Amino acid sequence: MPAFILNDTEIITTLPAGTLLLDFIRYQQHLTGTKIGCREGDCGACTILVGEIKNDTLIYTSATSCLMPIGNATAKHIVTIEGLNINGLNAVQQAFSDNGATQCGFCTPGFIVSLAGFCINDKTPAYPQAIESMNGNICRCTGYKSIERAAVRITELMQKRNGSPSLPFAAENNIIPPYFLHIKERLQKIIVEKNTTARELTGKKMLAGGTDLYVQQHATMVQEEIHFLLDKEPLKGIIQKENICEIGASVTVSDLAASPIFAKHFLEFGNYIKLISSSQIRNMATIAGNFCNASPIGDFTIFFLALDAQLLLSNGINERKIPLRQLYKGYKILYKAHDEYIEKISFQLPASNSFFNFEKVSKRTHLDIASVNTAIYLTMEDGTITEAGLSAGGVGPIPAYLTSSSQFLKGKKISEQTITDLLPVIQSEISPISDVRGSAEYKRLLLQQLVKAHFMPLIRRGGE
Ligand code: FES
Ligand code: FES
Repeated sequence: MPAFILNDTEIITTLPAGTLLLDFIRYQQHLTGTKIGCREGDCGACTILVGEIKNDTLIYTSATSCLMPIGNATAKHIVTIEGLNINGLNAVQQAFSDNGATQCGFCTPGFIVSLAGFCINDKTPAYPQAIESMNGNICRCTGYKSIERAAVRITELMQKRNGSPSLPFAAENNIIPPYFLHIKERLQKIIVEKNTTARELTGKKMLAGGTDLYVQQHATMVQEEIHFLLDKEPLKGIIQKENICEIGASVTVSDLAASPIFAKHFLEFGNYIKLISSSQIRNMATIAGNFCNASPIGDFTIFFLALDAQLLLSNGINERKIPLRQLYKGYKILYKAHDEYIEKISFQLPASNSFFNFEKVSKRTHLDIASVNTAIYLTMEDGTITEAGLSAGGVGPIPAYLTSSSQFLKGKKISEQTITDLLPVIQSEISPISDVRGSAEYKRLLLQQLVKAHFMPLIRRGGE
């Protein structure tokens, strides 16, 4: 039975755990400040804050309540725009009001909640991060300049924090109401359901972040019996064992972005992330969920295919290991039994003589799914490729590991001739179709150009 704190109120509900928080907030609790826009995670009108205790620290992140089931709210603090009320306008609302940052007002609660979330995380308060916190919020009245001015005001206020803990500072400065200061102790009293055994998995739908499943199967998910994986402790964590990195199945995209292991081995990771969804979605979406959704354009599927990642599948009793590239048998058909889930993802970390790159083109640069995406991983010695992994999405029914192309690259020199010779091999193993994201011919050309983009830094450096 989901138990959590909604604003200042303890909630225990007998509603199906698959019920969306957005519906619970608006239709059960009648808190209508949280708006419904797209119901697909794309507009940010339904943004809430989610507070949870990690390593004994209460941490707040933003989320889209239109894709978050109440089962994933268990033992957390859910904050809606009403939960930020103080006497009069709070400091973020005042900054919006003073700068004319609201016009029709429909998007405004989402923006306010996101920017308040920026104020109550303990990171160094800087303007780019303030803007970043609202990257999943869209304003149809295009009031972005005035919103930016409000963000400047709030950043200046937060910079007075000078390293002191953000929650007390935010409470003292009318950003949040004082009840936030007691949330940690209140959350600690909520008893979380024990880890589920394999027997209990039978017949239940498995769900991690929900950011894909609730878009595709919104109506049915609400009534499903769900086994929630997101908060299972054994499925968390990113660790390095010598040159192998292991990622738990419930690791989110934001967890990866915060990982020092990823920062060290993928220097461009921060730039790749900017091309992938929004902060709200990254805070919820898991890497394993991206794999299991089996979208032919799953960004992280393409990323990890190039790295030839391995999966540990489990049904709670038996385990087996398969390469990620063997997970896909056909469009949305997985080499995975109904009761199996991904327990762990592992891959070899890029060595100093290696090169990794991810490219993506979508109709809109941000907040959009790919038309075509691709990743490459090469190891090299004296300008000769010794190992290669090339992946591509949007060019066939499954996210593709380009076996022949990868094989072709081994033993080749980094040169323009190698790229010229590679392109027909790539074309021979893809089968794009024409759809809303472009014609088949366009996708063929796009992949060709993106592969050239992979090699550009290496060609400029004259090989490795
Ligand atoms: Fe648009 Fe939730 S309603 S993101
Ligand atoms: Fe109208 Fe943003 S103020 S949608």
